[in-house]
Amino acid sequence: MSVSYDFTTVTPRYNMGSGKWDEMKTINPNVAPDVIPFSVADMEFQMAPEIIHTLQQELNTRILGYTNATESYKQSVCSWMERRHGWKARPEWIEPFHGVVDALFTSVKAYTQPGDGVLLMTPVYYPMYSAIQRIGRVLEDCPLIRTGDTYKIDFDKLEALAAKDSVKLILLCSPHNPCGRVWTREELTQVGEICLRHHVLVVSDEIHSDIIMPGHTHTVFASISEEFAQNSIICTAPSKTFNIAGLQTTNVLIPNPVLRDQFHQELRRSGSNPKCNVLGYIAC
Ligand SMILES: Cc1ncc(COP(=O)(O)O)c(C=O)c1O
Repeated sequence: MSVSYDFTTVTPRYNMGSGKWDEMKTINPNVAPDVIPFSVADMEFQMAPEIIHTLQQELNTRILGYTNATESYKQSVCSWMERRHGWKARPEWIEPFHGVVDALFTSVKAYTQPGDGVLLMTPVYYPMYSAIQRIGRVLEDCPLIRTGDTYKIDFDKLEALAAKDSVKLILLCSPHNPCGRVWTREELTQVGEICLRHHVLVVSDEIHSDIIMPGHTHTVFASISEEFAQNSIICTAPSKTFNIAGLQTTNVLIPNPVLRDQFHQELRRSGSNPKCNVLGYIAC
C-alpha cells in the first residue's frame, strides 16, 4: 500500500465530544476560528491511512463482540517493542488495558497499602498525583531541578526518599510530561539502582516513548537489566503517537510473574474487567 501522510489539514472538532475543543468554546465563545486548543495531549492530525484502511477492511468482515487480545496481537506488540526499542518482551507479559491512567491507579492499589509512600518526580502529569493521594497513599515529592532550559533528577533527594521504610513504589514518567525530558539510559540506570537498593517498585509510564524528537533515544526501563525488568511494570500505548486516544488501548507489560499475579488479584478485587475494545486492538 503506498501512503502519504497529511500533517497540514486541521479538522476542528467542535460538537463531536472532544473535551478540549468544547471547553475552549465555553471559556471563550468568540474564540477565533483558527485557534487550536493544546490543553489535552491529542492532536488534530489526520489518522494514518494504514489505520483507516485496516479498520475499514475489518469492519466489512467482523462482528464487534467481546474480544480478547489474540496471540498474534501480543506478538505484534512484542515485535514493535523489539524493532523500535530493542527490548525483547514476551507475549505472556502483556496485560491489555483500557488506559494508562487506570493502569497507574491499579498498580498503586496492587502494590502498596494505604499509608505507604509513593515517589513522584514533579512537576508531572497531574493524574499521577491523584493515583497516589485519592487512594490514601502518601506522595513523596522529589522535585526535578531546573537547569537553564532543561531539567535534571535530584538523585540525592531521590535516594533519601527511597530509603524511607514507608516508600514502596515510584511512578516514573518516561519520557517526562511536562518538560519533555527523554531520560537517558544512564539516568534511568541510576533511578533503577536506587530503587533496587531500597526495594522500591518502578511503575514506568512510557506512553510518550514513540513520539520523541530526533537525536533522542528512548530506553525502556525494563530493558536495562534483568533485575530492572523483574522490578518494573511498563505502561505503553499507541494512543499518543498515532492520535488514537479515543480507542482506549493500552499495553501494560509485567515481566515478573509474581507482580503479574498481584496485578490480576487487584483486578479481581475491584471487579474490573479491563479489556480493550476490538477496534483498538486492530488499530494497535
Ligand atoms: C504521561 C501520560 N500518561 C498517561 C496519559 C493518558 O493516558 P490514557 O489516556 O491512556 O489514560 C497522558 C496523556 O496526556 C500522559 O501525558
